[in-house]
Amino acid sequence: MLAPLLSSAALPADYAASLCQQFGLQLSEHAVGWHLAWQDDALVLRHTELAKQGDILVDFASGAASYRRLHGGGKNEAIAKACGLTKKRDLRILDATAGLGRDAFVLASLGASVTLVERNPVVAALLSDGLRRGAATAELSWLSQRMQLCHCSALQALTQCAAIEVVYLDPMFPPRDKTALVKKEMRAFHDVVGSDLDADALLAPALELAEKRVVVKRPAYADYLAQQAPTMSVTGKNNRFDVYVNAAI
Ligand SMILES: C[S@@+](CC[C@H](N)C(=O)[O-])C[C@H]1O[C@@H](n2cnc3c(N)ncnc32)[C@H](O)[C@@H]1O
Repeated sequence: MLAPLLSSAALPADYAASLCQQFGLQLSEHAVGWHLAWQDDALVLRHTELAKQGDILVDFASGAASYRRLHGGGKNEAIAKACGLTKKRDLRILDATAGLGRDAFVLASLGASVTLVERNPVVAALLSDGLRRGAATAELSWLSQRMQLCHCSALQALTQCAAIEVVYLDPMFPPRDKTALVKKEMRAFHDVVGSDLDADALLAPALELAEKRVVVKRPAYADYLAQQAPTMSVTGKNNRFDVYVNAAI
């Protein structure tokens, strides 16, 4: 497989070198198709032929993530209830399929310490850049303490991490939602990440590691992960959170 491209245009040289080294990216002056680019001091995912697609980036400090932190349901959010944050706010959580870090950010903003595991180099680089910018934002002073990125496979993290109370899993699932935002990001994720066909294999090691519980996010219409029925499910606005309890929180 070819290394994902990072456009050198306007990108500070030191930062470019560190991104290439950390995530196995290849610097290019003439990127074609999906590539990472530098826009307004942020790393963005862009397609050379899809002008209308718009840039994709991780932005914890403003936009939807910030709105959800300030005006969302807080501890009443389904994800918070499913993970057990209503019972203990400083849980140690392994988000083994971190993606763009939206769910991890909600959990960390409520008090959890979250290790974000992402295997895809493009997504991991976007996430790392979002964490860098978020950590430099005054009102997110807690971010670098509570959110740590680990660019590796979930299986590796699940067998090597220690002292994790909750494992959170949200593997890719074919979308049915037609909203513009979902379509835009889903198209990019479909092209860049593909399907997580190995997701079923994560449940057993997750149950082995989690001291308290494993939470699996699924579309409301989807089967259980690994066809294994959970202890209970918490229903959110667009998703279901299947909770596999190992011990009480
Ligand atoms: C649906 S997205 C997660 C979205 C995320 N919950 C959020 O809030 O932004 C799934 C992500 O998990 C990653 N992933 C899937 N299987 C993985 C594995 N075995 N190891 C590491 N990352 C994995 C994919 O690369 C993808 O970025």
